[in-house]
Amino acid sequence: MIQFLLNDELRSEDNLDPNTTVLKYLREQLGKTGTKEGCASGDCGACTVVLGSYTTAACAIKASTHA
Ligand code: FES
Repeated sequence: MIQFLLNDELRSEDNLDPNTTVLKYLREQLGKTGTKEGCASGDCGACTVVLGSYTTAACAIKASTHA
């Protein structure tokens, strides 16, 4: 199980696909479509999110390792 805060709300995920990116998780599982997909390769910055105190490309990282 993975637990994390999303916009100050505690979330728990039991069956997260290890191949799902943070971008896909946000858009497809949570309906957070404000996070956009551009290049899908970590180059354009359209999917930038804040994880902890860092910004990162949500399309380039797996949700299961960074959620
Ligand atoms: S979609 Fe371009 S960096 Fe993620």
